[in-house]
Amino acid sequence: MLIGGAWQAAASGEKITVENPARRVAIGDVPRARAEDVERAVQAAAAAQPAWAAVPARDRGRLVSKIAEALEARVEDLARTISTETGNALRTQARGEARWVADVFRYFGGLASELKGLTVPLGDNVLSYTRREPIGVVGAIVPWNAPAQLASLKIAPAVCAGNTIVLKAAEDAPLAVLLIAEICQQFLPPGVVNVITGYGEECGAPLASHRLVRKVSFTGSTGVGKAIMRAAADRLAPVSLELGGKSPSVVYEDANEDWVVDGIIASMRFTRQSQSCTAGSRLFLHADIFDSFLEKLVAHTSALKIGDPLDEESDIGAIINEHQFKKVCGYVEEGLGRSEAKLVMGGLPPRSGPLSEGYFAVPTIFADTSNEWRLAREEIFGPVLVAIPWKDETDVIRMANDSHYGLAAYVWTRDIGRALRTAHAIEAGWVQVNQGGGQSLGQSYGGVKESGIGREMSLEGMLDSFTETKSVNVNLAIPAPARKH
Ligand code: NAI
Ligand code: MG
Repeated sequence: MLIGGAWQAAASGEKITVENPARRVAIGDVPRARAEDVERAVQAAAAAQPAWAAVPARDRGRLVSKIAEALEARVEDLARTISTETGNALRTQARGEARWVADVFRYFGGLASELKGLTVPLGDNVLSYTRREPIGVVGAIVPWNAPAQLASLKIAPAVCAGNTIVLKAAEDAPLAVLLIAEICQQFLPPGVVNVITGYGEECGAPLASHRLVRKVSFTGSTGVGKAIMRAAADRLAPVSLELGGKSPSVVYEDANEDWVVDGIIASMRFTRQSQSCTAGSRLFLHADIFDSFLEKLVAHTSALKIGDPLDEESDIGAIINEHQFKKVCGYVEEGLGRSEAKLVMGGLPPRSGPLSEGYFAVPTIFADTSNEWRLAREEIFGPVLVAIPWKDETDVIRMANDSHYGLAAYVWTRDIGRALRTAHAIEAGWVQVNQGGGQSLGQSYGGVKESGIGREMSLEGMLDSFTETKSVNVNLAIPAPARKH
């Protein structure tokens, strides 16, 4: 772990084994941090913070840009590390993620001089202005599904804004994050970026509740997000929470085309085994095109190759761990047990052959499902898509919004009027019309309802999530000094 500029073991000496889920073999180990290690890391971050905040913003930005350059030179290393520890396919996922990481540092490095305040027109006799000040020590906790991308989205804006950070990597995928930490450490003063490794309860919880952690930024499950908000409430620390989703894709009858089919595959994130918070996992297909659209969707999805994530031929890799694999299989079993549901492709994973050696799930689509089922309500975080027919626009919007989540949504039609009407009516933090890919830097991103609180990934996100606004009023009309006698 990186604490105060030095590589450190856990105080207890304990370790966590990291596994390659595609081969079920150990690939390394990392320290198993507990509260006493969190304490050391937070103290290091707190000690480094005042001097870091005093570095002019442009100079901080320049250092963040240097990290970007160094990361660009290590993209392939980073990509292979991500692929090996997460099971995400190198060609379709991990390489893109690694490039993204460099781009995140590039983007925020360039934004440093935008940490500007405002002047407020309170009258000629008052100068009123605001300052965007760092919050202090940021505690960040990230999951394993896009570990490097999510870590960079916390580290880069936090440090650019003058905070220092203690980031807890996910126990299942800490290696790429440690590689990012190593590169950050080449350019930043000790203690500005600290990365610790450990389990949620043992390491994440003490970080979220530490009194010196002035801001908590978390990405992960809704349940843990709520616990983090409760812990932060004790000291009124602000939180950004990017949580789960069960995002709808609404396909109109004029969108029965191949490019839409490919867009649905992209939005469902089948090539990341659908382990994505923004997966468009509820497919609302207009009844007139229901069967013929599904036929094309099955044909295109079946062409994706599942296999060793490091193999350049593989489109789809493995599920992160046994627990998640069993959870996904449980949902598939439940769908198979429903007499009304129609399995149109996939099902339970193969029990023999090369794919049975890793946690490989197969893309699975259930048709004629109901929006009321558990399969249509809970975040499966695996390649299980439910297709639900609709006829009336009001009805489909009602179903789309009938969810405790509100992260992403996708709308597909050539009719721009109804596309935008629907985009505006859906309760989500992020809606895409006629495209299914991932988020873009510069766009404020986050959810509504139980999908989270706060926005990150943009200039506004950096200002809102990683700075405090201070207002200063200066009286310009003080009386002349009293005459000396
Ligand atoms: P999780 O929410 O338990 O883990 C995410 C991170 O939080 C990890 O670093 C973990 O160590 C940490 N954590 C866990 N418990 C904690 C606690 N009590 N205090 C502080 N930190 C804690 O997610 P998990 O168990 O890995 O996956 C379970 C489900 O969560 C998935 O099936 C999926 O539905 C959802 N999930 C959603 C993600 C998203 O991006 N929205 C990412 C990962 C999981
Ligand atoms: Mg968990």
